Amino acid sequence: MIRPILRHGDDILHQPAAPVQEITPEIQLLIDDMIETMYAAPGIGLAAPQVGVGLRIFVADVSGGHDPADLLTFINPEFVERDGTQREDEGCLSVPGFNAAVTRSSRAVVKGLGRDGREHVVEATGLLARCFEHEMDHLDGTLFVDRLHGLQKDLIVRKIRKLSRAGKW
Ligand code: NI
Repeated sequence: MIRPILRHGDDILHQPAAPVQEITPEIQLLIDDMIETMYAAPGIGLAAPQVGVGLRIFVADVSGGHDPADLLTFINPEFVERDGTQREDEGCLSVPGFNAAVTRSSRAVVKGLGRDGREHVVEATGLLARCFEHEMDHLDGTLFVDRLHGLQKDLIVRKIRKLSRAGKW
């Protein structure tokens, strides 16, 4: 089932998510819905807080559904290693219509549980490393807009407030 994606300004997106205590059928259903919602959007990553659930889960597929092997699910993920930097334009399904360059690690190794409850470790570079950091940020209540500074950040936040006031957000 496709779930509605919350937008910047919704409280749950701006607070840290809690660890998953047990992988119940409800959690597995949530993951299935997150995958469906990510593909439908379409997006390359989605974190549970974006569908209103304050738990440390994200899904990612940098192939956008073209390669089943690229679909990743992480429950209670942690960074194992990060190094290097890359700076590319970034967007977010919770901040539709806005893009900005964000500096991220060029390599990131993440470990966590999969949908089946088994631990897996994935080493990522390039776009996937960026995606990992973006989704991990979501689990800490941080959106890419929060990583911007000065005028650039003010401009986006002001436009979002304006859209919000007009009932268009
Ligand atoms: Ni996002």
